[in-house]
Amino acid sequence: MLNQANFQDKSEKIGVIGLGYVGLPLAALLAKEYNVLGFDINATRIKELKENRDRTNEVDSETLKHSHIEFTDHPEKISGCKLIIVTVPTPIDGHRIPDLRPVETATEIIGGCLAKDAVVVYESTVYPGVTEDICVPILERVSGLSWKKDFHVGYSPERINPGDKEHSIDKITKVVSGDTPEIANFLAEIYGHVITAGVHLAPNIKTAEAAKVIENTQRDLNIALMNELSLIFNKLGIGTKDVLEAAGTKWNFLRFEPGLVGGHCIGVDPYYLTFKAESIGYHPQIILAGRRINDNMGKYVAENAVKMLIKAGKAVKGSKVLILGLTFKEDISDIRNTRVIDIYDELKEYDVDVSVHDPYAYKEEVKQAYDIGLMDNVEDHKPYDAVILAVKHRPYVEGLGLEGIREISSDGMPILIDVKAFYSKEKAHQAGFLYWRL
Ligand SMILES: NC(=O)c1ccc[n+]([C@@H]2O[C@H](COP(=O)([O-])OP(=O)(O)OC[C@H]3O[C@@H](n4cnc5c(N)ncnc54)[C@H](O)[C@@H]3O)[C@@H](O)[C@H]2O)c1
Repeated sequence: MLNQANFQDKSEKIGVIGLGYVGLPLAALLAKEYNVLGFDINATRIKELKENRDRTNEVDSETLKHSHIEFTDHPEKISGCKLIIVTVPTPIDGHRIPDLRPVETATEIIGGCLAKDAVVVYESTVYPGVTEDICVPILERVSGLSWKKDFHVGYSPERINPGDKEHSIDKITKVVSGDTPEIANFLAEIYGHVITAGVHLAPNIKTAEAAKVIENTQRDLNIALMNELSLIFNKLGIGTKDVLEAAGTKWNFLRFEPGLVGGHCIGVDPYYLTFKAESIGYHPQIILAGRRINDNMGKYVAENAVKMLIKAGKAVKGSKVLILGLTFKEDISDIRNTRVIDIYDELKEYDVDVSVHDPYAYKEEVKQAYDIGLMDNVEDHKPYDAVILAVKHRPYVEGLGLEGIREISSDGMPILIDVKAFYSKEKAHQAGFLYWRL
């Protein structure tokens, strides 16, 4: 039977499979106390990590340099690990169906070099049942070993918030579960040793899987409610932010804001839950209604930008609009499933001349994913008939500011679309903008 002491004295090794936004910070944290192997199928990523470069900016070069993580893209190395933690992506496909291929492929790789008595823990966000009903059979088939006799599994959802330096991985309570009480306790000890916030033992694996997926579903729905309120209040000519500020003075009013819901978590995870629900004959209503509202917000923002252009007396076709920010949220470089793209696509439908700037997104990734050439400088195509502050990246709100936006805007009646309602309406009006926000 494995015990935490064997890992602490470094006679046993932990393998982390998939070194992205989740896997790398986890590997770096574990490496403070344990012997860690970091495996990824992406050879470029491994090469960069070996050179102490993390393009996600989650782990700095100094930390990487001193972490002693053994980075590899050679699967056979995994055979030396008695604890294997899986942190590969769990996206949805074009039909919004869970795409479990990365989890399945990683599981096949692990099955091919699974040591006897090893424990495989999944951290990727999944629906209840994936670990035991999908991954375990793959592990058994590929390894020829028997579950609970020759190897064990666990599930411990990752709750990291990329770009958030305050709620770092060690400061977030870790939900832990195992296929037996002994394995759950063993994992609680392993994680508990590095997670200062402590661990919460879930009674079984499916409970832990469900807990993670509902965290993001709840957030998605709360934002959807704010978005729906903003659609209503816009029609009524009432400022949503003002209403929320007033309502927020009640002790039990939940503070959420309207906005675009992108990324690969909040906008994706609810579909994992609804997929599972549908598969057992329950057709979720509230969850999918929220998804529909949130998925339409980009188009709604673009339509309002067009209305503002018309109000300002500009010809929509050929008008010049600058979108500030493309990533799915502020101060990170991640462009996966960004809903800013919906604003862009909708404006293009109107033959608007759209320029996009982002201080953090990688140009080549943007080109490949969306076929958009990011500008180097916000001034490159000025003057703009309208500026859309889509993502409140620090360089925009602390650097460029209202004055800067005014300077790159056209004369006459410049337009500012402030998606996240960062600026005060009064100040925007004083600066001469025709101003709109969610
Ligand atoms: N990023 C977040 O905010 C966040 C937060 C909590 C949970 N999660 C969940 O964590 C999981 C990982 O997310 P992420 O953002 O780190 O993804 P990511 O895309 O940043 O990283 C995944 C890494 O896994 C690698 N990979 C893909 N298939 C592989 C395979 N078969 N074997 C080995 N490596 C493989 C990729 O090359 C990549 O480097 C997802 O399930 C996600 O939903 C993400």
